Amino acid sequence: MTSQALREARKYEEASEKLIKEEERPLFHLAARTGWMNDPNGFSYYKGQYHMFYQYHPYDAHWGPMHWGHAVSRDLLHWDYLPAALAPDEFYDMDGCFSGSALELPDGRQLLMYTGVVRERQRNGGACEVQTQCLAVGDGVDYEKYEQNPVLSEKDLPEGASRFDFRDPKMWRKADGTYCAVIGNRPVDGSGQILLCTSEDGFHWQYRKVFAANNNRFGKMWECPDFFELDGKGVLIVSPQDMLPQGFEYHNGNGTLCLIGEYDEETDSFAEQHNQSIDYGIDFYAPQTILTQDGRRIMIGWMQNWDTCAIRIPEDKWFGQMSLPRELSIKNGRLYQKPIRELEEMRRDRVEYREVFVTDTINLEGIRGRKADIELTIRPADEQKLYRKFAVRFAQNAQYQTSVSFRPQENILKIDRKFSGSRRAVIHQRRSRVKSENGHLKLRMILDRFSVEIFVNDGEQVMSATIQTAPEADGISFFADGEVKMDIVKYALE
Ligand code: FRU
Repeated sequence: MTSQALREARKYEEASEKLIKEEERPLFHLAARTGWMNDPNGFSYYKGQYHMFYQYHPYDAHWGPMHWGHAVSRDLLHWDYLPAALAPDEFYDMDGCFSGSALELPDGRQLLMYTGVVRERQRNGGACEVQTQCLAVGDGVDYEKYEQNPVLSEKDLPEGASRFDFRDPKMWRKADGTYCAVIGNRPVDGSGQILLCTSEDGFHWQYRKVFAANNNRFGKMWECPDFFELDGKGVLIVSPQDMLPQGFEYHNGNGTLCLIGEYDEETDSFAEQHNQSIDYGIDFYAPQTILTQDGRRIMIGWMQNWDTCAIRIPEDKWFGQMSLPRELSIKNGRLYQKPIRELEEMRRDRVEYREVFVTDTINLEGIRGRKADIELTIRPADEQKLYRKFAVRFAQNAQYQTSVSFRPQENILKIDRKFSGSRRAVIHQRRSRVKSENGHLKLRMILDRFSVEIFVNDGEQVMSATIQTAPEADGISFFADGEVKMDIVKYALE
């Protein structure tokens, strides 16, 4: 039975999506159908299609009581909206259906596990959110909440584990047919830990062990865990809150963290060996992954930043978009990310220049646009004479521009969106240290109307940022302080 709250949300989103013109949205990045979107949820393959659910407040372009929005796609680039899947309408989730995951049950139904939130008044007059894990079962469109919800709650938690920070279950099915879920939690040290819970049938769950502990190394609470095996390694991704910067690796605030190590399936133990940021730009959080039919591990994150989006001018009809789907691999203890290969099918109008000599500012015939796939390689024009700076400026006209610039002496790549249309005093720049020898660098930049994702050195690093620039600013130019040789291939994306 569909509740009244869900019926209302479905009616509302159907009516209000019509007020948003197609060109006001990204072309191939999934954005909120209407209102607000945050984390990707329930990223899964079911009945021949990819399903993406998302944290959703349809009634306003700001965060509010969380619903689950829903969309499907065959290539992870062209999305169709489906009716909202969950609304906060039960005694155990009346203040929000927070993040979670999905999988297909052996009987062909789709199982969702999400965090139910209920605000509890505290003695000091404030309120805390009690968080439990809940299930819903459905057919790919309509979902019925499980009558025995919640399936994991305070009574299942180990000693000292907070019942107020216990969220974002990511489930998977093991080869033996049993189920696992990693769930974010806060132990007594105030930082984060990831709990492993298990189930024989997907419905009866128990706490197993602490799967990974932060011990106050990377931020505080760890949100939105995901765990998978890739290229012979165990990979745990989490989104820590309240990070302190560590050089150029981690930045202040909410960030993303990838731990790579050894996983022992027998004992369900994970021993971490390497750590790194997942994205080095401004906007990326709470990613979730899927294993595709052809064996690729694909990741999609929320292309936003909690601190930036709290301070906005409240006139958007939609807010929040997902990142590009990224194909993951592990090489030498490092996570590599590449744009999903299906994107190549959207390429049109190839324009190529080789050995372009750049000193000062240049424009190139045929190189402009806001939906573009650009491959660039740069090097010093003379290997004996290192240039001082190289920059690409895009989403550019007389008033606006966003830039990616590189200083080879320090190997610093910087994104700067100060002139991208923002009217707020929030973070507009971010620097990352990249690998480069004598000023050689390879970049792939994907533009989709309101965002840029920069893949450095074949996916060794990624920097993502959203922009609010007026669509007519579609210029692209190149700049060098010193003498640079550049090869460029540019495609329009359609
Ligand atoms: C992460 C997060 C999750 C939570 C959801 C609420 O961005 O805070 O931990 O489930 O957003 O919308």
